[in-house]
Order: sequence, then C-alpha cells, then structure tokens
Amino acid sequence: MKTLQRTFSIVKPDAVAKGATGDILKTFQDKGFRIIGMKMLEITKEQAEGFYAVHATKPFFNSLTDFMSSGPIVVLALEKDNAIADLRELMGATNPANAKEGTIRKKWAASIEHNAIHGSDADDTARFELSYFFAGYELAK
Ligand code: RTP
Ligand code: MG
Repeated sequence: MKTLQRTFSIVKPDAVAKGATGDILKTFQDKGFRIIGMKMLEITKEQAEGFYAVHATKPFFNSLTDFMSSGPIVVLALEKDNAIADLRELMGATNPANAKEGTIRKKWAASIEHNAIHGSDADDTARFELSYFFAGYELAK
C-alpha cells in the first residue's frame, strides 16, 4: 500500500547563492514531490544550532552552523509516497565525491559541507524539522 508522507528540505546557502533554487524546485516537481510549504529566509547561528542539535558534538558543528547562517536559504515542506527515503535518494551522498549521477548533490554540491541541500533522514526528524520552520496553517491542504 502506498502511504503519503511528508518530509522537510532546505536549499542551502551555497545553492541559493549559485542560482540553483529554480533547478532544484523543478527537480522536486519532476520527481513527483508536491511542494506544500516554501519560504526563503536567513537564520541566525543560534537557529542553525537548534536545527542541527543532533550534531552538537561533531567536529564540523561550528563550521556547519556558520555556513547555514551565512545567507538566504529556502525551506520546503514536501509530500509524496515514500517522501523521506525518496528525497534522500534524490539528494545523493553527503560527500558529492560519492554522489551518484542524476542526484542533486552530484549536480550542485561543491564539498561535503557546501552540499546544496538538506533532507530529513527519518519520520521523527521530519516531524521535528517541519515544525521547526512551519506552522500548520502555512502548509497547503
Ligand atoms: P543533511 O542533514 O544536511 O541533510 O545532510 P546529511 O544527512 O547527508 O549529512 P549529516 O551527516 O546529517 O551532516 C549534516 C551536514 O553537515 C555537514 N557536514 N560536514 N565536514 C564534514 O565532515 C561534514 N560532515 C557533514 C554537511 O553540510 C552535511 O550535509
Ligand atoms: Mg542529516
């Protein structure tokens, strides 16, 4: 049985700065994701730290949160059958050197940190991340 699922994505500051947003949004739609929420904003270092709290002990945490608060991002709520796993597949590997042909990171990521896109990795993180950036009334029915 197919189950409609929601996931959360970010077009990261590197991709927005490169003008990749339109291409990434078109890819989502071509691959069957329905965009049910979207906004462009800049987050503070503290907001980035809250969002990536699971990585607080990692050596790259400071650099990652500096990067994520360095310029405009586009946050998205996406809906599709199997959305969480399908988005992870479409994004490609964290390190673009390992990303498969046809993935967003293969096309747009420059490095393991400046890797163009974020996608939730599980049900519970999708719920947390959607609620971090969207109120219920901001999502399309
Ligand atoms: P994301 O959470 O952004 O969707 O990426 P991901 O699941 O593929 O990777 P994750 O392990 O959750 O790491 C989060 C983000 O931190 C940066 N990173 N830098 N310098 C490094 O070794 C390193 N490792 C990860 C990347 O921006 C990565 O997407
Ligand atoms: Mg992750």
